[in-house]
Amino acid sequence: MDVIDVIHAKRDGAALTGEQIDWVIDAYTKGVVADEQMAALAMAIFLNGMNREEVARWTMAMVNSGDRLDFSSLGRPVVHKHSSGGVGDKISLPLAPVLGVYDVVVPKLSGRGLGHTGGTLDKLDSIPGWRGDLSNEELFAQLDEIGVAIAAAGSGLAPADKKLYALRDTTGTVAAVPLIASSIMSKKIAEGPGALVLDVKVGNGAFMTSVEAAAELGRVMVDLGTDAGINTVALLTNMDTPLGLTAGNALEVREALEVLAGGGPSDVVELTVTIARELLGAVGKGDVDPAEALADGRAMDLWRKMITMQGGDVDAPLAIAAHTEVIRAERDGWIDRLEALPVGVAAWRLGAGRARKEDKIDPGAGVEMHAKPGDRVSAGQPLFTLHTDRPDRFQHAADALAGAVGYAESEPEATPLVLGRV
Ligand code: URA
Repeated sequence: MDVIDVIHAKRDGAALTGEQIDWVIDAYTKGVVADEQMAALAMAIFLNGMNREEVARWTMAMVNSGDRLDFSSLGRPVVHKHSSGGVGDKISLPLAPVLGVYDVVVPKLSGRGLGHTGGTLDKLDSIPGWRGDLSNEELFAQLDEIGVAIAAAGSGLAPADKKLYALRDTTGTVAAVPLIASSIMSKKIAEGPGALVLDVKVGNGAFMTSVEAAAELGRVMVDLGTDAGINTVALLTNMDTPLGLTAGNALEVREALEVLAGGGPSDVVELTVTIARELLGAVGKGDVDPAEALADGRAMDLWRKMITMQGGDVDAPLAIAAHTEVIRAERDGWIDRLEALPVGVAAWRLGAGRARKEDKIDPGAGVEMHAKPGDRVSAGQPLFTLHTDRPDRFQHAADALAGAVGYAESEPEATPLVLGRV
């Protein structure tokens, strides 16, 4: 097989054969196909798309490039959740222990953040002592004992995707439905069968900015999951506005703890409970109400066990940034817009995110929001508190937030959090 023929075929609009796909993924993983050749092929896929058979074959070739996990020996239903990435998205933190309360296995394998969206592992890293790099033996032992773990996805899962995702990131080929769908689903399928809820974010802070585009991505991923024997549902959820009132690692852990204590912002609680209901329903536990696990402290108890088993000190204070600055409302009115993307960018500039993989994160850095769409504010009232260890970053973060907030004369109509289901 010749890689040039494969590139030509896709460049000229043909569907790739199964043999071509298996060969090119295997050869790329082994370094036989060079980065520049794969970049050309990724761009041809970006421009000309792939049909359902091609995406399915491409996904399974990436699954087969590495290891597959199998939790069936644990003898309980396995549930997975994946978010396509948003601002202030700390849902996995309360969700994992809520689910674990109901006697299911929750191997929540996560990644680190790049750009304006935060990663679950970066958030948990702000807990002193906590470690996410569990060996397979540690992961299985913890799941057997308490049913729940949030850990780093091992490098053995879908290594072809790891290499290809890094390449796409630097060649303008991330935002294509076949490439995003195969990337996400190759990792989920490698994590083993069970039930899966995909939280597909829609809005200015997400990859997908329209409901139609998000529905298409959701449809392709649901088909891939279903074909692989996973009971898969996609929820399309609003990411025009950040989730909750915080964006930044320790700030988000603090907010997750409020939710686990039975309080917290209503949108974070609603999405946590909605996804828990979907997953529990999918494994035949539709008669329980997951909101009860938050209200009665069982989810908090399990959180404390989970963090402790992974070396974290649940009673240690979380990092606090050395400096804060408040941004105030310019006028009286109802907030009718608070854009997610500028808040994510501001948090990132304050030190909550990284521009390159090797950058260090300031755990206490980020943005705290004091008002959300639907709230009435008066001129001079605090809208944001910016947190950072480096005060020279304030201006750059404030610049990102200029224009992020819209005001109306009357109370705006509420936008639903869940915009669709596939
Ligand atoms: N997340 C992934 O894992 N892959 C993509 O392509 C996009 C988001």
